[in-house]
Amino acid sequence: MEILRSLDAMREWRASLAPSQRVGFAPTMGNLHAGHIELINVIKQQSDVVVASIFVNPMQFGGNEDLDAYPRTLEADLAKLEASGTAAVFTPTTTDIYPDGVSQHTAVDVPGLTDVLCGASRPGHFRGVTTVVSKLLGIVRPHIAAFGAKDLQQVLVIKKMVRDLSINTEIEVVPTVRESDGLAMSSRNGYLSHDERALAPLFSRTLEETAKRVAESGSDIKTVIAEGEAILTEAGFVVDYLEARHTYDLSEASSLNQETALFGAAFLGTTRLIDNRIV
Ligand code: PAJ
Repeated sequence: MEILRSLDAMREWRASLAPSQRVGFAPTMGNLHAGHIELINVIKQQSDVVVASIFVNPMQFGGNEDLDAYPRTLEADLAKLEASGTAAVFTPTTTDIYPDGVSQHTAVDVPGLTDVLCGASRPGHFRGVTTVVSKLLGIVRPHIAAFGAKDLQQVLVIKKMVRDLSINTEIEVVPTVRESDGLAMSSRNGYLSHDERALAPLFSRTLEETAKRVAESGSDIKTVIAEGEAILTEAGFVVDYLEARHTYDLSEASSLNQETALFGAAFLGTTRLIDNRIV
């Protein structure tokens, strides 16, 4: 497995591939778990060579967020990628990606989809995601790139960006990989204390049950969601949002005649969990 630690190294390696080789790509921020490896497995079946990137992107973290504390486990990550059959890993430096600093960097903004849910709670977050992903796609030039359905809003935002900017990369969506108790795998789960970890599956379970009840109740979506929120609050979660929205444009779902998902974000102590369930 090639470890490409600079922009130049990445570009050189990319240029060495034959035009007929189909390149698959999985961008990550590292601290890899089985959810990330599933992206590699899915993309491997649809390409000739798989590239992963590991870059903790400062631009997508708010001033009060966990950039410094974000887990960095490069050696273990490289071992997992090697075992999964990844051909090359791009691990750029922050200066490679933001030569003039984050604040002086050209930004990519996707309107509309980023106004709600995580976009409303984390101002500037998606601008950081779309800026870095557009750069990574420009550097790696993959035929196909994989993103996880755990971050469903991120998937929709990236799909719109790729369409709007005429980027020639197919976007593959990989279903959420969960722990055996239902908790969606996330690098942030490692922040949970022993007691919080024991409580955390209630979040995914409540989302799943609420989504089921929304599907059954049809018209009474608001009441059903309020009940789900009450269960979480009572258990000690601080709910950021729990909302039913259409999956194609994230507009609010007041009835269920279009594909809808229940989106949730909640704090358990200082850890922010997100998840979603198709209704
Ligand atoms: P990160 O949180 O490291 O996630 C990298 C990719 O793995 C994302 O596409 C995410 O949706 C996917 N993923 C994470 N947990 C998953 C799970 N349990 N099941 C399936 N897929 C999962 O998301 C980011 O990094 C960044 O925003 C990034 C796209 C790399 C841009 O910086």
